[in-house]
Amino acid sequence: MAYERTELPRAQIEAQEAVAHRIAARFAAEGRRPLALVDTYGCQQNESDSERIRGYLAEMGCGFTDDEFAADIIVVNTCAVREHAEQRVLGNVGALNHTKKAKPGQIIALCGCMVQQPHMAERVKRSYPIVNLVFGPHELWRFPELLERVLNERRRVFAVAGSEGTVTEGIPRRRDGQVKAWLSVMYGCNNFCTYCVVPYVRGRERSRRPEEILAEARELVAAGYRDITLLGQNVNSYGKDLGSGTDFAELLYRLNDIPGDWVLRFMTSHPKDATEKLFRAMAECEHCAHHLHLPVQAGSDRVLRAMNRGYTAAEYLEKVALARQYMPDLVLTTDIIVGFPGETAEEFEETLRLVETVGYDSMFTFLYSPRVGTVAAGLPDPRPKADKQRSFERLVALATDISSQRHAAYVGRTLEALAESYDASADWPLTARTRNGRLVHCKGGAALVGQFVPVRITGSTSWSLFGETV
Ligand code: 5AD
Ligand code: SF4
Repeated sequence: MAYERTELPRAQIEAQEAVAHRIAARFAAEGRRPLALVDTYGCQQNESDSERIRGYLAEMGCGFTDDEFAADIIVVNTCAVREHAEQRVLGNVGALNHTKKAKPGQIIALCGCMVQQPHMAERVKRSYPIVNLVFGPHELWRFPELLERVLNERRRVFAVAGSEGTVTEGIPRRRDGQVKAWLSVMYGCNNFCTYCVVPYVRGRERSRRPEEILAEARELVAAGYRDITLLGQNVNSYGKDLGSGTDFAELLYRLNDIPGDWVLRFMTSHPKDATEKLFRAMAECEHCAHHLHLPVQAGSDRVLRAMNRGYTAAEYLEKVALARQYMPDLVLTTDIIVGFPGETAEEFEETLRLVETVGYDSMFTFLYSPRVGTVAAGLPDPRPKADKQRSFERLVALATDISSQRHAAYVGRTLEALAESYDASADWPLTARTRNGRLVHCKGGAALVGQFVPVRITGSTSWSLFGETV
């Protein structure tokens, strides 16, 4: 696939910031400070994009609210990965009819993966007249300009042209937390798994330059962030488009040199590109969590082939064994799709067997959802929905069983965990995460937030641990 990596000139972002400041001046002249609400669906990349939208909104002089009736500007950042996510978005946007009626000047914007699909942009255009602005992930960098057009021209603006995507540096960002931070290392995906819409809406794989990533990580650690998660659809192909010789394992080593008490996580890894070099780097880098999110998707070789995953179940299991050799304390999580078109009941049994063999710490399980334009959406899909649902429930029950057992094995141990947040009204007010990524609900004080503390594990469920700070 011939694709030339392009980086947006910084001057373009500076021009957008100038537009944002012009909008701020206009609001100030009108004597008002508009309130904005950004509602995010889907993955961590979307969370990260929403931080950039809030960054721009802050430069426009907006304040922020959680109340849809109070908001002057509502931005809904959408997801397209499954139909369920799209239905939730459309339902909630429909409900904004009430807020707009109560506040006629309200501006409603839709962005993200769902509206990057031409059929969805068309549907919004036709059936959701309350929406003023629609822009896809490739146009996020020029959100100020798009919003200014809505303000000036008082007509609907749609910016969803297809694109391979660029790398944009320097967009202002308003981060959600003070302890945990997202750090994108690459955008897009080249894998074209046959069920997945992501390569169509997020464009080709493109990596940020290592110097940019290192500078951002240094700033985050200096600002007191203690938990940095590197983001990419497939971090293991990081750097392939750069030609600079820095692959993902080397990026981990370089990040690991940043001094301080902080932990480095990343997601997602594609099994076909997970190498021994990566496992060694994870084991050797003391900042790096021993956590691998390694989506297997299915346990049958025929289904894996039909999904275009590029590995067999045996190859996957070999990689897991190798990773555990390097990191005996490895926390392993995965994604699984049940009911891929043509998956038989016997083939589903192979998924159950693989799950039992691996023993995941936790699993994200999904019923297959056909996506417009993907190869799988055109495959025969004879298995009745009720059958798939039963299989799905069996998988969930098995996953719950395995994670309960794995979590129970922690009880009585004392582990170091990073206290992430505090909620005085909760029975277990402190939420913490072990170095390797397990969630622990703790007894402990608010002053501990942002610190690594020893936690004695006193209880467990299938989804988390309970403990006391010692
Ligand atoms: N249907 C169901 N699940 C899907 N995923 C991606 N596309 C689909 C689809 N069409 C799941 C995969 C992926 C996770 C993020 O979402 O398991 O790893
Ligand atoms: Fe989708 Fe496959 Fe790319 Fe993941 S690796 S985003 S599942 S195409």
